[in-house]
Parts: sequence; C-alpha cells; structure tokens
Amino acid sequence: MHTSKNVFKGSEAIKDFMDPGKLPYVPLVEIPQALNPFADDGVRILAKMMNLLPLGNVKAVPAYNMIREKALAGELEGVDALIENSSGNTVFSLAIAARQFGVEKTYSYVPAEISWNKLLMLLFFGVEPIVNQEPTTPAENDPASGVYKARKDGERPDMINPGQYENPDNPGAHTKWTGPQIWDQTDGKLSLFAAGLGTTGTLIGTATYLKQQKPDLPVVGVMRAPDHYVPGARTEKLLNLVDFDWRSHVDHMECAESEISYRLSMAMSRRGMMAGPTSGMALAGLLQHLEKIKANGQLDELRNTDGEVLCVFPIPDGPLPYLDEYPKYVDASEFPPIHNEELLLNKPGA
Ligand SMILES: Cc1ncc(COP(=O)(O)O)c(C=O)c1O
Repeated sequence: MHTSKNVFKGSEAIKDFMDPGKLPYVPLVEIPQALNPFADDGVRILAKMMNLLPLGNVKAVPAYNMIREKALAGELEGVDALIENSSGNTVFSLAIAARQFGVEKTYSYVPAEISWNKLLMLLFFGVEPIVNQEPTTPAENDPASGVYKARKDGERPDMINPGQYENPDNPGAHTKWTGPQIWDQTDGKLSLFAAGLGTTGTLIGTATYLKQQKPDLPVVGVMRAPDHYVPGARTEKLLNLVDFDWRSHVDHMECAESEISYRLSMAMSRRGMMAGPTSGMALAGLLQHLEKIKANGQLDELRNTDGEVLCVFPIPDGPLPYLDEYPKYVDASEFPPIHNEELLLNKPGA
C-alpha cells in the first residue's frame, strides 16, 4: 500500500516501492547558473534525477516494467533464473525486480575487461557473473556475443532473458512513466529534450510520449565519442548494433568525450546533483547543441510561452560506482591537495 505520505507497508511493500507508478514523481531540478553558459540567453536546463529512484539508477524503471510484463503474461511460471547480458545497472536492477516476482537467481554475461569494482557490485547484489570473451568486432547475432548467449539461454523453460536491447517494455517503461512526468512537471512548456544513448530505451520511450504531446519537440541524442570511455553509453558503431529504431526518434545527434563527461558529472555532483559520467555526457551534448543553435541564431525558435528555452536531460545514475575512474579523466588540478599526504598508510599503488 502506498499513501500520499510516501509510506510503503505490507507484504507488497517493496514491490510497490519499486513501481514507478506508485512512487512520487522523480524530481526535476534546474542546474545551477554556474553550469549553464546560456543562462543569460533565457535558457533553463533541468535534470530528471533518475539517480533518486529506489535502486539509484534509470534502469530500475525498465527493469521493473520488463519483469512485471513477463509476470502478467504468465511467462515467469516455471522460471527459476533470469539471464541478461549486462555488467552494470540493468542486471542488478533486474535481479532485484525479479526477486519481487519470485525469481531468485540472476546470471549475467559480462565482458572479460569488466572492472573489479563492477564485478564486486554484481556480487554484492547477488548476481552470478559469467565472464565472456566478446568478439573483437561486434556484429549483430554473433554467437560468441553475450547478447546472443543470453538470448539462447533464455529459450530454456526454466530461464528468462528480458533482452533489454530488443524488448519493447524497456522503452515502453519511459513512455508510461518518465515522459508523462516530464511533460507534467514542465507544464507542457518543454522546448527540447536530450538524453544519452545506451540501449536507447530512455530516449525512445521518453521522446515517444513527449512527441505525442508536442510533435515538433526537438530531441537530441548523445553518444560517446569513438574510443572514449563513458560506462553505460554507446559509440555510433555500437549503436548500430541496437535493434530499436532509435534514429527515427532523434532529431539531432551529439557526441561527447570522456574528459568533459567526467568533468561535468563531478561539477554537478559538487553542487548537490549526484550525477555519474553519462549524466555529464548528456549535459555536454546538450550544451554543444545549444551552442550550435545559438550560433545559427535559432534560439528564439525554441522559446516557450514564457519566453524561455526550457531543456530537460536525464541523470541516469550517481557518481559513486565510478569514483576510482575520475582521476583518469579529470585534470589533477580539479582535486584538492591532501595535507600531510606522507602520513597516509593506504595510498593507491603504495
Ligand atoms: C549509467 C547509465 N547511463 C545511461 C544509460 C543509457 O540508458 P538507455 O539504456 O536507456 O539508453 C545506461 C544504460 O544502461 C546506464 O547504465
């Protein structure tokens, strides 16, 4: 049972607590002016804080939806294990959602280069990782890929593979919940939506709803630059392997590098918006796009009835799982000095 006081009680308390339809709206928070170079142009940038969901990440929404739809379709009967190809947010969110519906065990194909921290996170949440030597040049339906292996395993009667890269209930979750919330929270005055691209579920699902309300709403897709690392996001080459028709939902594409993604993520976090690297990437892409729009003299075309250019982008998760990666991508000058450093007993590499 959920009450307007935001209390979840009873035997279904956790299941209800995970149901985005029973939770209060996910906060939409404006980034500080210091991070918005277009503030004087009447541009306002708001972040949808998906890091504040019960599981701390955006994949909690599709994970719950994919499992619930399978349960409603009777597809969980006789199933005692879930399998997915994922090394992060998706599979631990799926594992927790699946337990609410009686599926206790979760396996995950993970690439050989997975970091120890990520592996530890999966183990912490009770996911059994299966390390897979991924093909060096990924191709759709390659039998050596984790995606293919998980799909095959899922054909067994006692296993289920939600298949986040092809399951319509992944984007469908955002059409059902994320899009309507953003539209309502912006009082229908939204000028532009931007999102990072992983499975592309967030962008497709949210844009589907938003464009139903405002067909000419510009949607910006942000990918990571080739050979750059931003965990959770895909490069253009990797996006070509995604089954969803994400291109038909995107009006403009932008590309962001690791350094700016990590730097903006840290800048947002230091001001109270707990944002991970893909949040920085989405903001970087959005700012890049606004720069072009401004240079072309097109900002006025985006103004709403309040005379503002109102932009929204999602914060998919927080920075904590990636802390050890920041020194690799953020300039050392961004970190404060450690006083009496010589006294430290547990310095990395010591
Ligand atoms: C941290 C993070 N950011 C962004 C994304 C991308 O979201 P989507 O898969 O909906 O495109 C993911 C997906 O796994 C993610 O884990």
